[in-house]
Amino acid sequence: MSRITCPDLSSRVVTADKAAVHIGHGDRVAMSGFTGSGYPKSVPGAIAEQARREHDEGRDFGIELWTGASTAPELDGVLAEAGAVSKRLPFQSDPAMRKSINAGDTEYVDTHLSHSAQQAWFGFYGNLDVAVVEVAAILPNGLLVPGSSVGNSKTWLDLADKVILEVNSWHPRSYEGFHDVYYGTRRPPERLPIQLLEPMQRIGDPYLRVDPSKVVAVVETNAPDRNLPFKAADEDSKAIASHLVDFLRHEITAHRLPPELLPLQSGVGNVANAVMGNLADSEFEGLTAYTEVIQDGMLDLIDNGKLASVSATAFSLSAERAADFNENIESYKGRILLRTQEMSNHPEAIRRLGVIAINGMVEADIYGNVNSTHVMGSSIINGIGGSGDFARNAYLNFFVSNSVAKDGAISSIVPFASHIDHTEHDTQILVTEQGLADLRGLSPVARARKIIANCAHPDYRDRLGDYLDRAIAENPNGRHTPHLLGEALSWHGNFQANGSM
Ligand code: COA
Repeated sequence: MSRITCPDLSSRVVTADKAAVHIGHGDRVAMSGFTGSGYPKSVPGAIAEQARREHDEGRDFGIELWTGASTAPELDGVLAEAGAVSKRLPFQSDPAMRKSINAGDTEYVDTHLSHSAQQAWFGFYGNLDVAVVEVAAILPNGLLVPGSSVGNSKTWLDLADKVILEVNSWHPRSYEGFHDVYYGTRRPPERLPIQLLEPMQRIGDPYLRVDPSKVVAVVETNAPDRNLPFKAADEDSKAIASHLVDFLRHEITAHRLPPELLPLQSGVGNVANAVMGNLADSEFEGLTAYTEVIQDGMLDLIDNGKLASVSATAFSLSAERAADFNENIESYKGRILLRTQEMSNHPEAIRRLGVIAINGMVEADIYGNVNSTHVMGSSIINGIGGSGDFARNAYLNFFVSNSVAKDGAISSIVPFASHIDHTEHDTQILVTEQGLADLRGLSPVARARKIIANCAHPDYRDRLGDYLDRAIAENPNGRHTPHLLGEALSWHGNFQANGSM
């Protein structure tokens, strides 16, 4: 049976090439998609072809590209390779897009993921010309059934002058009922409290709405989502996961956490996935999650009965796990809810629910400032994503990393972070395979001693301790957060000059 049962919209079905002609040089184009899930699979390729033709004929062609978060090669990849993106927001993780940004060819506005929808609403990014949104089905009354992500689709459909819909029959039709789309967004001073009192509470509609008069094209596809498979957990990520889970036990014993914990948030990446694996083998029961993405590890936790329910904005499953989920989707109904990212990452909800946030980091400095985004201060990896939304507002936040990178040539604990995404005022608990540093309630120098002793790799521990001791000795009037300014970034300079810190 056709996925497009609205007579009005079914009359607008065209090819991706025909749909792409609605997009021109200089347009602001917002697309669905959050990680490799729910992004349009065919119109981006057609836009890339159009860009190539224009470039070949000596004309400029570049769009501003907004999404929910990162996407996949069929979106970020093809557009970056065609040199078709002049500006990108709010998050990316595609190798071609990263290269274009780091080469200075694409401007990148790296944004907290809860901010992107509201800042678009406030008009901070300018008028939105076109929205390209993938859905699982269009109902007879024109309502849209989202697929594997919600992200910013609601906002893009509301704000865009023109809308292109991609209807992807790869998504199970049974996705209907998995979503909760909040339609109460207002601008200050008319804003209302978000009445979300527990993770699975519904506060919106199961469908996306679109004004049919704005729909200029509908494109049919049947193409899978594409997420990178996870590396099997190695000894280091198992050690990180084990420190973290032991700490949660310790907090229960100290009556700072209930036995079923508080709602979990786990960032993207292999370590975060490994932590979920460790929880699956633990004694914890009746867990909940209020998070951004559902990775394989979280689905495993649901399957083995440890995780009762999860609220997120998107799936981020390996191909194997996605196929399995699609096959058994009915059995997950009522246990998984996908919200707009405005709500999955809403500071008010995260703080009220008391979320336990677990995110990856690139490096931390001895005082607990965390860099989640940049290599050697200059080159972006992915972006801040939701890590700031969750860390700042969480009940407990963890930042996790191996203590060294590049076979030990880089220490992830440094005198001064070469870029700071989360300040020492926000970060609570750092974890490496070496151990865990609980920084709550500690002053800067006490924090530094603990991070060096518990988290730094033994090869770098003495040098970090020596840096701290000399910084204290040489700053008789600056002993609150002592630094040797001429030396603070010298470890990064050493790496750039000699290939090792
Ligand atoms: N200096 C330089 N490079 C470093 C480094 C350091 N201190 N630490 C790690 N890296 C490199 C690794 O070598 C690896 O490079 P490679 O791909 O060339 O091998 C890369 O950074 C990723 O590191 P990895 O150890 O595989 O970590 P990860 O998959 O857990 O990702 C982040 C870590 C920080 C990149 C990732 O968590 C991220 O993008 N975070 C920001 C967004 C976020 O938190 N989103 C979730 C919110 S819900």
